[in-house]
Amino acid sequence: MNKAKKLSPATRRVSINLIVFTCLLLLWSLPALAAIQGSCSNCHTMHNSQNGASMNFDDSIPANEGLLRGTCFGCHAQGGTQALVPVGADNIPQVMHSEGTDLAGGNFAFITGMKGSGASNGKGHNIVGLTETDSEMGTILPGGIQQSFHESLIVNSTNLTCAGTNGCHGYRYAGGGREGIEGAHHANVDGKLDAPDKPANSYRFLSGVKGLEDDDWQYTRSSSDHNEYFGMTEPVKLGCSGGDIISCHGSLGIQTPDGTISQYCATCHGNFHTIQTDRSSGIGPNASSPFIRHPTDLVLPTTGEYSLYDTYDVNVPIARTGAVPDTSSAAISSGSDAVICMSCHAAHATNYDDMLRWDYAGECNVNAGTNTACGCFTCHTAKDGEPTQ
Ligand code: HEC
Ligand code: HEC
Ligand code: HEC
Ligand code: HEC
Ligand code: HEC
Repeated sequence: MNKAKKLSPATRRVSINLIVFTCLLLLWSLPALAAIQGSCSNCHTMHNSQNGASMNFDDSIPANEGLLRGTCFGCHAQGGTQALVPVGADNIPQVMHSEGTDLAGGNFAFITGMKGSGASNGKGHNIVGLTETDSEMGTILPGGIQQSFHESLIVNSTNLTCAGTNGCHGYRYAGGGREGIEGAHHANVDGKLDAPDKPANSYRFLSGVKGLEDDDWQYTRSSSDHNEYFGMTEPVKLGCSGGDIISCHGSLGIQTPDGTISQYCATCHGNFHTIQTDRSSGIGPNASSPFIRHPTDLVLPTTGEYSLYDTYDVNVPIARTGAVPDTSSAAISSGSDAVICMSCHAAHATNYDDMLRWDYAGECNVNAGTNTACGCFTCHTAKDGEPTQ
């Protein structure tokens, strides 16, 4: 039975206006989608039991620390068909799934073969418990700064974890609370992060990293809708030995000293980023060509082929130097925007060897004509043989 009363057009107009007004008011009073939302029971369980059955998202039996319904993997690497798994009003961003679209960090499913051209350890970071250890690497940390000093102590291909002492997210030092993440989810700050002093207000819980977080982790993306990374105009000397060498140990544990994402990668792979600190380390004795390793945190020259990279390509990201921008932008400014590790690599895993964003061995043929499959040409615009300058 339809109980609706007939309303006069005027009354209807007033009601519609009222509804619109109420919605606007509600939207306005909601905080900018920050931190996590919804009922505690979406994510927590008091006894890990409901009608005697487990409350874990993946139906596994063990109860988890923090009274949570999953571990990092149980929530973020569910291995389903969605990149964003709804939980109440919130979404859990997935780092292992089979959906066509990958989030900005990449997808561990390429390592296991759940997605892509077949299983391979070389396609990404092999996380203990999620993917196998990287059997090709032994116990090495490629590019590890002061390898001989750190070899027996710190992170390597057999012990890398999501977070904590041997991991990437959160407080990366002994004594950092539950896997270094504790407190970060409830205090999570979204959007522009330019004064990180704890994991919660660091870019993607990466201690000390600055940046502008895209609100759907780049599930939707375009040249003007993306994360913005923070970079430096030229790299500095990184290490542990003092003097003009800058240390990666700070109040946040192991952290990026200047807030850039490339320095953050360099807290483990320092040799691929630092200005030379001894005879064979780093990118070279200074930040000018010739280099001995590809530079990062270095501005694109204003002259020559580099100046022709002028519209942001989400598959070849660059960083903004000076300040974290308020909004993401399609513009590229050579002379101020910088090449970063993320220009060529993703963070978790990709379908290509060495966690690269494109098929380096197969696609990057010099003088290949108009070739958009190889990201090297996005900056080295003259090397595909097209008359560009
Ligand atoms: C969308 C998922 C989600 C919801 C909803 C949620 N939590 Fe949490 N909570 C987490 C995660 C993940 C952690 C552990 C990681 C961390 O501390 O960042 C956590 C940690 C905690 C902690 C320990 C760390 C801290 O921040 O104090 C407490 C206490 C807590 N939650 C209480 C609650 C209560 C009470 C509610 C409901 C009002 C709630 N949570 C709702 C996901 C959630
Ligand atoms: C109970 C489920 C749950 C668990 C367990 C959990 N997370 Fe999350 N995580 C979430 C949700 C929900 C969000 C989205 C928060 C939001 O909307 O800002 C999130 C967001 C994140 C983000 C992105 C933060 C950002 O700035 O966008 C990172 C990184 C992350 N989690 C890492 C971890 C790590 C590492 C662990 C294990 C130590 C973990 N999470 C455990 C539910 C969980
Ligand atoms: C906590 C230390 C740590 C941090 C931080 C870290 N890595 Fe790694 N990375 C490792 C270890 C250990 C390996 C070797 C084992 C493996 O491949 O899983 C590795 C391997 C790699 C590989 C080779 C993958 C392969 O299998 O061939 C690439 C590329 C890479 N890292 C890039 C990065 C980038 C880019 C960043 C920053 C976003 C980064 N790493 C941050 C520890 C780290
Ligand atoms: C985001 C932009 C960017 C991308 C992508 C990029 N490069 Fe570069 N490349 C640079 C910059 C900037 C320099 C340094 C220019 C300078 O200051 O002389 C450079 C320098 C070089 C040099 C010269 C080193 C020297 O000693 O002068 C080579 C070789 C090179 N890149 C190869 C590659 C290859 C191969 C790829 C793809 C795997 C690639 N680059 C991808 C920006 C980029
Ligand atoms: C210009 C593109 C480019 C940039 C920028 C770049 N890489 Fe790479 N990286 C590559 C390529 C290509 C390879 C494959 C091996 C090679 O050609 O040397 C590679 C390989 C690696 C490896 C595996 C080395 C091994 O021994 O297997 C690691 C680790 C790595 N990169 C980390 C980083 C880190 C960390 C940064 C930033 C500090 C970075 N890369 C910046 C293109 C790049």
